[in-house]
Amino acid sequence: MLRVIRKAAKTILPKSTVYRLKRQSAQNRFEKYTQQKLDMNFKLVEPGAIPPQELIAKTAALNEAELEKQSQADVYLETGYYSVLRLFKILEHFSINLRTIGSVFEFGCGTARLLRYFRHLDGVKLVGSDVNPEMIEWCLNNIPDVEFYHNQLTPPLSFAEDNSFDLILASSVFTHIPLDTQEVWLKEMQRILKPGGIFICSVLGQNHASLILGEREKAELNKTGSYTLTSDDSQATFSTKVGGSAWDVFQTRSEVITHRSLIFKLSSVINEVKGSLYKACSRLKGKCRTILAIAC
Ligand SMILES: C[S@@+](CC[C@H](N)C(=O)[O-])C[C@H]1O[C@@H](n2cnc3c(N)ncnc32)[C@H](O)[C@@H]1O
Repeated sequence: MLRVIRKAAKTILPKSTVYRLKRQSAQNRFEKYTQQKLDMNFKLVEPGAIPPQELIAKTAALNEAELEKQSQADVYLETGYYSVLRLFKILEHFSINLRTIGSVFEFGCGTARLLRYFRHLDGVKLVGSDVNPEMIEWCLNNIPDVEFYHNQLTPPLSFAEDNSFDLILASSVFTHIPLDTQEVWLKEMQRILKPGGIFICSVLGQNHASLILGEREKAELNKTGSYTLTSDDSQATFSTKVGGSAWDVFQTRSEVITHRSLIFKLSSVINEVKGSLYKACSRLKGKCRTILAIAC
């Protein structure tokens, strides 16, 4: 019944109203969950500034139509609330208590679409870095209470000492790093992660492959375990074509397991997890395959 009402409302109401209602609902759900988990350690913060469209274009658009939608302030904020709540639930699923996290690093943070919401965790050290200096400059000018650094295309991360972070996120970042460079970055993530720390990294899996690749490319992906598009390829994502990255990198589940397991103790390829967590992932329409790895 609720679904029917929602569907009807979507067709009657102006798009801007629908986006606002969805953002409010995502924000309420996020704040309620996080406050309940953190109790005294929860801090109420404003979501913060919305980046200009040219930066959103470089981080969040499969195509031009999507860019139009992603550039709406309420949509930009809602996707962040939704994704960070999903991350928190993934951590809970693996019995990680949010209150025990003292430091978080987001590799390839872009415009801090996700990292900004970790400011609700009172007293936690927050650090973001990105290879694109425009992103970092914007973050430094607009997102308080977080340290931001520009990093080079290959390691090391000069600002980070060994064993610095409890949690590292790389959301839609290894999706733009060719496999040989992924390997050196994985080792760098392991270096800066505390023993027992958690590294959550998304990769472009079969869902994106079916959205973007043709039959020939998909066959190659399944045969070799990976497929890389460059920014000149007609099939490349809009963000990659406009200079957000030079590559879109697709990987199969078995390639991820083999590759990651060499460096980390791989805990799970999350799309494979059954039950409520699986539902939480599939509600994102399963756009990417998320893995969780534990440093050994
Ligand atoms: C699709 S965006 C995702 C941004 C952010 N993680 C989010 O979820 O909104 C990919 C980001 O990864 C960054 N990136 C790509 N390769 C990188 C590298 N080698 N080091 C750091 N950042 C990188 C890009 O500049 C871009 O900001």
